[in-house]
Amino acid sequence: MALILGLESSCDETAAALVTGARAVLAHRLATQEAQHRPFGGVVPEIAARAHVEVMTPLVEQALAEAGVRLSDVDAIAATAGPGLIGGVMVGLVTGKALAHAAGKPLIAVNHLEGHALSPRLANPNLHFPYLLLLVSGGHCQLLFVEGVGRYRRLATTIDDAAGEAFDKTAKLLGLGFPGGPAVEQAAKQGDPKAVPLPRPLLGAREPHFSFAGLKSAVLRARDAGLYRPEDIAASFQQAVVDCLIDRTARAIDIADGATALVVAGGVAANGTIRAALEALAARQGLPFFAPPLWLCTDNAAMIGWAGAERFAAGLTDPLDIAARPRWPLDPDAEKARGAGVKA
Ligand code: KG4
Ligand code: ZN
Repeated sequence: MALILGLESSCDETAAALVTGARAVLAHRLATQEAQHRPFGGVVPEIAARAHVEVMTPLVEQALAEAGVRLSDVDAIAATAGPGLIGGVMVGLVTGKALAHAAGKPLIAVNHLEGHALSPRLANPNLHFPYLLLLVSGGHCQLLFVEGVGRYRRLATTIDDAAGEAFDKTAKLLGLGFPGGPAVEQAAKQGDPKAVPLPRPLLGAREPHFSFAGLKSAVLRARDAGLYRPEDIAASFQQAVVDCLIDRTARAIDIADGATALVVAGGVAANGTIRAALEALAARQGLPFFAPPLWLCTDNAAMIGWAGAERFAAGLTDPLDIAARPRWPLDPDAEKARGAGVKA
């Protein structure tokens, strides 16, 4: 059974994991840079890249020790090669290249989004292709028809902000702290989701695209009105996001012919209210629902190791001169959504 070392460094988490093709996670180590970025209220690329350099190699050593294996036991090294903050991506990819070269093992350059997209299959052996995936993270909000490893058809994307970005900006506006998603979810538990009237952008639109920029502006206006408690704004914001995600995903189910399951992945998939609403939608539509455990939703290296294991099983490895990519769409044929921004 293949043993894969996975490396992740595309944003503000540095991680190393050992994963087998039989879904065993032998070790996963993660160092978050949250404390270093907190004073700035967001991820600072220069700080991120330097922090990745400091901890990547020790994390690899710890993961190997925890799993009780040596580098020579590994069948391939899988490293995130994009998309993400380029300085950070380069740290993980160059580490992966050096280890692959030193150990004489193949390198697998993993698309970070493919790591998220396949992570539910690491968590559950009963999830088979093809499935409809809602990929919601800090940089992305997409609906994808996942046909197989490396085969993704994008049905929809955001025309402005990603869902996680909306959570992070709302947290900042309400002074709830960083990272924003968990902070908004916590505050929302103390709030009334009907207290503040907020828009639901693109609700009912024919194409299942997303938009969150208008919602963010409405949160700013609600805050400045001085009429509402932050908890009520947080709860109302979260409910608006839920309503948009559910409406847009329901539309995608209509057009995703042949999907065997509804699946959610990415950091925002850690949100309990969003998970519950998607599960209820899947039940209404008669589809099985899959969501990875919380630790597999936010960035980690086990999902990169698993994507590596899936690619390795398919005979897909990469040359050592492969470049890091700040942008790297899963579906290169997808047309740009009208109004889409340039975020990776
Ligand atoms: O997948 P991820 O760890 O990194 C990216 O690839 O972007 O996603 C991070 C995003 C952040 O925007 C964060 O605020 C959001 O996921 N997030 C959440 C929750 N936990 C993380 N959003 C809502 N509720 C949560 N519990
Ligand atoms: Zn991610």
